[in-house]
Amino acid sequence: MALLYKADPERGRSWQALFAEHAPDIEVRLWPEVGDPADIRYLMAWQPPQNLGDFPNLEVVFATSAGVDQFDLSQLPEHVPVVRMQDPGIVQGIVEYACMAVLSLHRRLPLYLHQQRQGRWQEQPWQPARHTRVGVMGLGLLGKAVLAQLTHLGFNLRGWSRSPQQLDGVSCFAGIEQLPQFLGQCDILICLLPLTEHTRGLLDARTLGALPHGASLINLGRGAHLVEQDLLLALDNGQLSHAILDVVQEEPAAEQHPFWKHPNIWLTPHIGAVTLPESAFAPLLDNLRRHQQGQPMCGVINKNQGY
Ligand code: GLV
Repeated sequence: MALLYKADPERGRSWQALFAEHAPDIEVRLWPEVGDPADIRYLMAWQPPQNLGDFPNLEVVFATSAGVDQFDLSQLPEHVPVVRMQDPGIVQGIVEYACMAVLSLHRRLPLYLHQQRQGRWQEQPWQPARHTRVGVMGLGLLGKAVLAQLTHLGFNLRGWSRSPQQLDGVSCFAGIEQLPQFLGQCDILICLLPLTEHTRGLLDARTLGALPHGASLINLGRGAHLVEQDLLLALDNGQLSHAILDVVQEEPAAEQHPFWKHPNIWLTPHIGAVTLPESAFAPLLDNLRRHQQGQPMCGVINKNQGY
């Protein structure tokens, strides 16, 4: 029985070594060395192979990522579940990035860096974190972990999700009806939504326009959540003051992409979190064994919802 791995080749070798040591009954093959496609029971991938129908005995698809929007779910037979990566390392990475970005905005780092380049030693007003309202869109594993850490830092927190949630110390809003009310209370907005037909392009002129004047955006979701032209307009007319983006529509961003050099954008190359075999192996193997024993796996996505 074989697991086909199709993502970063170097990490693939680490996965291979971990399986050889702890689960030698599962042979790991590294894309494109597929061998006999009929041997493949499990696929683990970032960008899946073109034709998932080529693997007649496929039983489970494991995404190496937390998001699964890159999979064409309609290509998969009904009985093949798709499991998102629930690596504690991903949670740690996203929490680190979100806190770094929120603290940078709260402590006005973009402005201070600008002043430094101008040789200006000038103090700006400061107020403690409880006066800065931070809103998280998407209250899954990642959104909740980010809010928990921001609670420790003392921020004034809001959360928005598709269905109602209750979180300690966080004012929660749900559904499209409550979106304007939520947005109107976010000095800093963090997008941690899954990308689905309902969330594609959700960060558009209307959404950005509903934020308080001078608010900031952090996008840790997918590039396609954001209408890039609308962000540029909102920054240029002062509706937004700054954006910190880890994702763009087309990755890698083209050389001419306006985000590279925009004075009010910080852009990083989709590094918010990286799945590390060392922390991701145990939960993945646990899921595999559950599947083999006919028990429910953790992190199975709802194909109708797309997350
Ligand atoms: C990365 O973007 C992920 O979805 O894990």
